[in-house]
Amino acid sequence: MSTTISVEPFGESFECTDGETILDAALRNGFFLKYGCRHGGCGTCKVVLSDGDVEGEGSTFAVSTGERADGVILACSSRPATDCAIDVEAMELTEEEFRAGDQVAVFEADVASLEWLTHDTCALSLMLRSPASMPFTAGQFVNVVVPGTDLVRSYSLANAPDDSDRIDLIVKVLPGGAFSGLLASGLGVGDSLTLHGPLGELRLRLSHRRVLMVAGGSGLAPFLSMLRNLERRNRPREIDLVFGARTRTDLYLVEELERLAVALPGFRFLPTISEPDTSPWNGDRGLVTEVISARYESLDGYDAYLAGPPAMIEATIPVLTGLGVRPANVHFDAFVPSRR
Ligand SMILES: Cc1cc2nc3c(=O)[nH]c(=O)nc-3n(C[C@H](O)[C@H](O)[C@H](O)COP(=O)(O)OP(=O)(O)OC[C@H]3O[C@@H](n4cnc5c(N)ncnc54)[C@H](O)[C@@H]3O)c2cc1C
Ligand code: FES
Repeated sequence: MSTTISVEPFGESFECTDGETILDAALRNGFFLKYGCRHGGCGTCKVVLSDGDVEGEGSTFAVSTGERADGVILACSSRPATDCAIDVEAMELTEEEFRAGDQVAVFEADVASLEWLTHDTCALSLMLRSPASMPFTAGQFVNVVVPGTDLVRSYSLANAPDDSDRIDLIVKVLPGGAFSGLLASGLGVGDSLTLHGPLGELRLRLSHRRVLMVAGGSGLAPFLSMLRNLERRNRPREIDLVFGARTRTDLYLVEELERLAVALPGFRFLPTISEPDTSPWNGDRGLVTEVISARYESLDGYDAYLAGPPAMIEATIPVLTGLGVRPANVHFDAFVPSRR
């Protein structure tokens, strides 16, 4: 059974086939809605459901309770159960953009280097071939097509936007992972990859508020891009970065972060390890939630940014808001695994 989706403020409508998401149907019908990961991790595709019912598996925290009460849904994860009306005004799309179809650019790139940072984390550097540069904002990500398939996987850029001919990624390698598994066996220097991007809304907002960044695992990547960008532009900010790992050997790029802490007055690098370990360690111990609760009496007036495993983000957001961060000032990319 197909359903009809009406789109305000553009007074347009399109058909959605059985089981199709609103986003997929919009793109298939030649319209554009902003999107990123396409599976509930980044929140880029939020729209307001003003009429009708949808079914969906969007991550519970990509849309806050307050937003849900206001009818906000994720277009990438919502399948209509009835005819629906959606309002896309918050996407700030012009009518021309909406009617122009998918505008996310496609790039061809070559693997320039592949370096193991820990036993399961790789730095993957790609040189863009065509087009030869990708303008992006620090904090954004790209969707990488898994070679030989139509699957895509999202990865945050770790380099500064000035280096727009290059894409540096930090990838946690999962045994058997459709893309990350190739880094352990299969992908090598000189191999070609197709990328879509840049995508996502995570970016350092201009403000005079203090910033708390919280990174878990490969979630360091978007913050490295932001910090490297601040260094290039000589724009120090009051920033604390809590970087959580299980053990000392799971931490990486520590020297680079310590260098940035010297180069950027106001930036503090706060690594923490969560597993018991008897070797000498000057950093914090515990989960990022425990470290934040212990370090800060109040986070009133802070902006908070998080990236990494969904469970870490889900557990940390209530701690941040409980310490006074306004929900509107919490921004994150949850590295939600793809369902395909
Ligand atoms: C907005 C966004 C940005 C992202 N940025 C990054 C990034 O910068 N670096 C990065 O490494 N990843 C990032 N991810 C996650 C990435 O897109 C992939 O989901 C991840 O690399 C796994 O893909 P895969 O093809 O290797 O494994 P898949 O074939 O998708 O999964 C293989 C198996 O591993 C499980 N699995 C998936 N993820 C995990 C996990 N984290 N821990 C344990 N098991 C898991 C799956 O459920 C499945 O059973 C991001 C995700 C999003 C949504
Ligand atoms: S595109 Fe829908 S949450 Fe990322």
